[in-house]
This record gives sequence, structure tokens and C-alpha cells, in this order.
Amino acid sequence: MNVIRFSDLCAQGAVATKRVFIRADLNVPQDAQGGITEDTRIRASVPCIQMALDAGAAVMVTSHLGRPTEGEFKPADSLAPVAQRLGELLGRAVPLVSDWVDGVTVAPGQVVMLENCRVNPGEKKNDPLLARKMAALCDIFVHDAFGTAHRAEASTYGIAEYAPVACAGPLLAAEMDAIAKALLAPKRPLVAIVAGSKVSTKLTILKSLAANVDQLIVGGGIANTFMLAAGLNIGKSLAEPDLLDQAKAVIEAMQARGAAVPIPTDVVTAKTFAADAVATVKAATDVADDDLILDIGPQTAQALAAQLMRAGTIVWNGPLGVFEFAAFENGTKVVAQAIAASSAFSIAGGGDTLAAIAKYGIEAQIGYISTGGGAFLEVLEGKTLPAFEILGRRAST
Ligand code: 3PG
Repeated sequence: MNVIRFSDLCAQGAVATKRVFIRADLNVPQDAQGGITEDTRIRASVPCIQMALDAGAAVMVTSHLGRPTEGEFKPADSLAPVAQRLGELLGRAVPLVSDWVDGVTVAPGQVVMLENCRVNPGEKKNDPLLARKMAALCDIFVHDAFGTAHRAEASTYGIAEYAPVACAGPLLAAEMDAIAKALLAPKRPLVAIVAGSKVSTKLTILKSLAANVDQLIVGGGIANTFMLAAGLNIGKSLAEPDLLDQAKAVIEAMQARGAAVPIPTDVVTAKTFAADAVATVKAATDVADDDLILDIGPQTAQALAAQLMRAGTIVWNGPLGVFEFAAFENGTKVVAQAIAASSAFSIAGGGDTLAAIAKYGIEAQIGYISTGGGAFLEVLEGKTLPAFEILGRRAST
């Protein structure tokens, strides 16, 4: 994708003394006291901010936090804990500025954090007046918030239309590059793993990937619906029988291209959904009416692992079974370890997927771990994200 890259502007010396407005995604989980429970997104945003400071810019960084009501700022909406953590990571104080839309005082070599941008009236509906005011604060707008790349809001889209220069920060650029490598020009075979509880929430993804991938591995409740579509009994397992035709259509679309949706040949079942439920491995054809399928069986896991070892590219979204329970984690663990061991370029994203990656300690072996939740899913749906569209347009005008 042709966008202006902030790293290029820095390398050209075009950033010194300039006012740089960075839209980051610092939307991190917090406990009841506001303490940050997981800071990946803050750490992922540091390189861009540091790059701007090193280049001699006057740096403003902002983000949304949660989904506050516009015009009604509450203490819980504050980015104060985020500014504090960012300061620790940068090794310098990061002052927090409230009511910043009409003007911000910041000198070259300094960084300030602008309070939760989603509290500004007009942010969500991309109000042009608000967007123009934000654009007027800066010489260069840097979009570095992949997690919000699927949103067209004033601080993510409108500002990019009106700022003198609009470019992609290093995090956004890395996400764009990884997505292009995995989906636009993949080394084949391209294998996608799409798992989750419901076909309905991922139907668009399944349909979109069915037109592109060589193997579409389904897991969780989604796999149960596909097993049902393949004529297997799934007992009382979670599934969506009303989507059988859609599942069959995906299988047929894949077959028509000489590609496949591997259906499990064995499964791990239980009579109740509980961590201490007795786990029974059985053939996929032997599932009883009162069984719950909670994982793929060892034979299926090994077969999938072998396919992943032969893959050129792997896209991973979703665990294969109830990996939070030790008795039902084998499928996810074997697949995770196969992805880690495979020489394929792999890209992974989504909350549960990141939890599985962390649980099996394979972060370093994944080609790219996306910071996006909804944004990553929309990429898999084949959508052009608003951030990519506007930055592409600004690069060509
Ligand atoms: C996320 O957590 O996925 C991003 O920060 C986007 O948040 P949103 O869904 O509230 O826009």
C-alpha cells in the first residue's frame, strides 16, 4: 500500500521542530482502581513517539480509552495512568493536557499526552469542525493506531484529511506490511485458522478467506457447525444449525478451487462444560447425543500440525478448543507449537489468540502479532480499513 511513512519523513529531516500529532491506540485493559492490567499497546506505541522525539519534533500523542460519553468527562475516562506508564517507558515525564482542541503548548523535544480524544463532542461521528481543529494543531499527523484503523472518527480519519501531512507511524506501517505479506502476496500454501464460538460472528471472514486460502482450518463452535454440515452428530455441542447452508457453501467454494476445510476426524468430549469434567477422546463418528465437543482430538491435531509445517503462510485467529481447561487444551497447544515450529510466515490476532500465544510462550516464533482486535477481524473480512484508505489517498494527492 502506498502511504507516506513517518520513518521516511524522519530520515529526510522533515520532522525537526515540526508539530507532530500522533494518534495511538492506548486503549488498555484496567482493573477497578484504574490500574493497567496489560500494557502491550503502550509498549507498541513507544517507537513512534521516540522516533518523533529523536527527530526533534514537538510531540502530541492522544488515544481513546474505553467508550466514554462525548462531552461528559469522568475521572475513569482519564488517560492519566497511561501517561504515567508511557513516562516510565520513555524515561521522561509525559504531562497530560485537558481541553486541548483549541490549542496545545508544546516545544520541540517535548512530548505531551492529550486527554481521551473520545470525550470530545463530534469525535465518533467524525465531525469535520472538530477534525479541522485537531488538524490545525499540527504540521504532521501520524496515524499509529492500528487497533482503531477500522474506525472513521475525527482523530483517526477527519484529521488525516485536513492535516498538512498525514502519514503512517511505524506500528501501523508494520501491521500494513504484515497484512500485505500474509493476504495480498502470500507464499503458498496459505493456511488460515478461524476459530471461535459462532459461525455467525465470523461468517464474513470465512467467506472472504474461502476465496483466497488453500486450507481453512475451523475450530471451536465454528468447527462443530461445519461437522454438522458434513453430516456428523455433534451431540449437544455448541453450534448454529440455522447456518448449515452457509457452512456448506464455504466448504463447496473451497472444494471448487481445489482447496479444503479439514473436518476433525477425532474429538475430545465431556458430559459437562467444566474444568474438571472427564475428557474422552473419540472418533468424530462416535459422538453421543449427550456429548459436548470441547477440543479436537490428538489425531486431528497431528494432521493439522503436519499441514501447518508445510504451509508458506499462516493466518491465525482463535483457539481450537477450550484451551483454558487443561483437559481440553491439547488441540490449541499442538497447533500453536506447530505454527511456532513452521518456517511459514505467520500472522496472529484477536484476544483469545494472544492469550494462547502467551500461554504457550511462542511470541518470538510468530511472524507478526497484531495489536488490533476488531481491526484485525475486519482485515480478515477483506475490508479496506478507513485508515489505510485515507492515508493512501493523502499519499497520492
Ligand atoms: C480495540 O480495543 O479493539 C480498539 O481500541 C478499538 O476500540 P473500539 O472498539 O472501542 O473502537
